[in-house]
Amino acid sequence: MAYSDKVVDHYENPRNVGSFGKGDETVGTGMVGAPACGDVMKLQIKVNPATGLIEDAKFKTYGCGSAIASSSLVTEWVKGKSLDEALTIKNTQIAEELALPPVKIHCSILAEDAIKAAVDDYKAKHGAPAKAQ
Ligand code: FES
Ligand code: FES
Repeated sequence: MAYSDKVVDHYENPRNVGSFGKGDETVGTGMVGAPACGDVMKLQIKVNPATGLIEDAKFKTYGCGSAIASSSLVTEWVKGKSLDEALTIKNTQIAEELALPPVKIHCSILAEDAIKAAVDDYKAKHGAPAKAQ
């Protein structure tokens, strides 16, 4: 299967690969698997407690080129966004940006699910929305 230029770019030069240390209170972690192919994606967001904005993001993906490109793209997109803004990212936007073919749409769904899971994890860690201090 031929990958689009953008997929190849993100696949060959993935942005923000890695992970944040365990026990960091400002980090939310999302780990999701794709039932269709067994691939796994871990995506983490690091939130600035003062602003409530996502200031950094990292991922590790065990999967195909489209899954790696989708997670790389999403880590770029979420930076500077609020948690609620990050939740509005749709897999269709990812698939469109990367020109994914239909058989690879589930790879972009993995990325959408991973960011949602990371935001949920962060919110769960912090309970009710933090009050301004
Ligand atoms: Fe999972 Fe593509 S089928 S790597
Ligand atoms: Fe399954 Fe890409 S995540 S083929």
